[in-house]
Amino acid sequence: MSVIDDPAQFNEEELYVNLRASMGLPLFLKCEGFNFAGSIKMKAATEMVNAAERDGLLRPGSVLIESSSGNLGVALSVIAAHRGYRFLCVTDVRCNAPTIRLMRALGSQVHVVREPTAHGGLLGARLAYVRALCASDDRYVWLDQHSNAGNWRAHYRTTAPAIARRFPRLDVLFVGAGTTGTLMGCARWFWQWRRPVRIVAVDSVGSVTFGGPAGPRRIPGLGAGVRPPLLDTSYIDDVVHVEESDAVQVCRRLASRGFLFGGSTGTVISGAGQWLARHGRRGLTSVAIAPDLGERYLDTVYREDWPPADVPRPERGPEREQAMAHIG
Ligand SMILES: Cc1ncc(COP(=O)(O)O)c(C=O)c1O
Repeated sequence: MSVIDDPAQFNEEELYVNLRASMGLPLFLKCEGFNFAGSIKMKAATEMVNAAERDGLLRPGSVLIESSSGNLGVALSVIAAHRGYRFLCVTDVRCNAPTIRLMRALGSQVHVVREPTAHGGLLGARLAYVRALCASDDRYVWLDQHSNAGNWRAHYRTTAPAIARRFPRLDVLFVGAGTTGTLMGCARWFWQWRRPVRIVAVDSVGSVTFGGPAGPRRIPGLGAGVRPPLLDTSYIDDVVHVEESDAVQVCRRLASRGFLFGGSTGTVISGAGQWLARHGRRGLTSVAIAPDLGERYLDTVYREDWPPADVPRPERGPEREQAMAHIG
């Protein structure tokens, strides 16, 4: 039994779902949604806030400000509420309504950006808003998850060694790429400790992170309209791009087996399924990371009529058909 007095003291680090039975995949899913923020972002938020306090950047009277697709915002809301800081989250229209309500319930202020910038998309617009506020008042403290080393260091210190402890003979690790904090922290750890683990990044179609063309994306957390400054592709072995419609299909299939995960988990599993269909072999040990759970996605991923028709449906090529058939 754990007894805590700070919400940051609890995080389930040891839970994996074996996806062989429910998805027909030789894949273990590391569940990162069991903490008081409900997502993997609790780790990055804690690491970045602790560092800012240590460096004297965050002081009584400081106002935390951050651009977030939601989950980091919730994590910072939890920490700010507990430690007595004010927090302003700058998000955009892709952020789920329940996530916004959650942040407000925790006492945070939320600003929703509605218009993308011409070259940086909605993320570019969020960053421009944050920069303008920081320039206007020096009480604002911007941790900047997109360039803060604490974002990847959190996973170097916790996520990667936890996976290696549980799977000492790991062959492949699938990690979704948003800010790439999780990806880079894990990739650096396995490289540093000379573990022969293939690191496969999973991204959404429409994200420019790995050089693809920009396009519409609805699932929050994964993908970017601006190349993430934390990304160093020399640590990455492979990249898989996933159509959001495939991610949604995977989420609904898992839900039908009693596992309700967030949209980006569907993306990562779908990407892992594509990769395993091409490169898998008997006896391969593979792990994928599930960043959060599904309750915040009831009005999106788990609604019959979602995504709305204005997002063009992709053509199905034979390779993608084959991968989706493999998933089931
Ligand atoms: C739901 C979800 N999935 C995936 C990610 C991506 O994680 P990272 O920013 O470490 O790349 C995030 C990050 O916010 C997220 O909220």
